[in-house]
Amino acid sequence: MRGVITDSRAPGGLRLADDLPEPEPAAGECVLEVRAFGINPGEVRLIEERPDGWRPGQDVAGVVLRAAADGGGPPVGARVVAYPEWEGWAERIPVPTRWTAVLDDRVSFEEAAALPVSGLTALRALRLGGSVLGRDVLVTGATGGVGRLAVQLAVAAGARVTAQVSRPEREAEARELGVYRAVTSLDDATGPFHLVLDGVGGPALRQAIGLLAPGATAVVYSSAAGATELTLSDFYRSGAYNAKVVGFVSTVPEETKGEDLAILAGLVADGRLRPGIGWAGEWTRTADAFTAMARREIRGKAVLTVPV
Ligand SMILES: NC(=O)c1ccc[n+]([C@@H]2O[C@H](COP(=O)([O-])OP(=O)(O)OC[C@H]3O[C@@H](n4cnc5c(N)ncnc54)[C@H](OP(=O)(O)O)[C@@H]3O)[C@@H](O)[C@H]2O)c1
Repeated sequence: MRGVITDSRAPGGLRLADDLPEPEPAAGECVLEVRAFGINPGEVRLIEERPDGWRPGQDVAGVVLRAAADGGGPPVGARVVAYPEWEGWAERIPVPTRWTAVLDDRVSFEEAAALPVSGLTALRALRLGGSVLGRDVLVTGATGGVGRLAVQLAVAAGARVTAQVSRPEREAEARELGVYRAVTSLDDATGPFHLVLDGVGGPALRQAIGLLAPGATAVVYSSAAGATELTLSDFYRSGAYNAKVVGFVSTVPEETKGEDLAILAGLVADGRLRPGIGWAGEWTRTADAFTAMARREIRGKAVLTVPV
């Protein structure tokens, strides 16, 4: 069976192997024929660090080849999106049924494969702010894979969203997502914000803390722009009294990954959420997709397809 593995001698540290073992599913696992998968920035470091032969892959969409032996989960032939822990970039994979969601015909495999890591991050980070109806929300890195989804979900939830983007040409792209305001610098953002969803980190996070309302929440899911120095005075100087900074991990809780995938896939089916695929190619080009991502050339998600 073919699948992507780490190989330190291969370009980009990845190689398509053709001698992987067939899946041996546990009782609560179905077997998928993978049709498309997505990549994420967090996988870069793992690919570098893990030994040769390691199998990455979390964002997966495909067709159920074998239903779970315990009788639960999607039936044979169902089109599904899945969020396995690893080893998702292969022709056939076992995956716990509770980490899958059935896809409506209106959702393509490519769109679905853009959802697991980025979509759960956006959805679960937004929830940490409670009700955002009529409230101001700031999303940094707003045209990235997570940022685009976070903006759309916050807008759908009734928030007034300010989007921070990395350069002026991306402001229009953010406006297309329904934001109230798009800024390249937080100097131009006007708080106070009820919720900040931060996908950038670095000095901008400190600035964002200074824009929080009293008791508000900043959900931090990245430190792409480096470390942030924070002191208590960053909170009280601006009136962000008793505001909270949440160090966010998207995979928790694991039991409800499938439920949350179903919510996201449903919104895509209804045309209320657009994953935004900025790069697409066959899976033989997985290393190229990582190169484009490292160069910050991709707007939105990179998705690879697996021909059948
Ligand atoms: N904690 C978690 O559970 C979790 C889950 C998912 C993702 N993440 C992390 O969240 C971050 C965003 O993920 P993603 O999939 O959205 O990545 P992405 O698609 O590459 O988007 C990154 C976004 O951040 C901007 N950006 C990147 N580096 C920047 C920098 N140094 N300064 C300012 N802006 C910068 C990019 O702007 P341009 O593209 O315009 O340059 C883009 O808008 C990544 O660091 C990822 O590892 C964490």
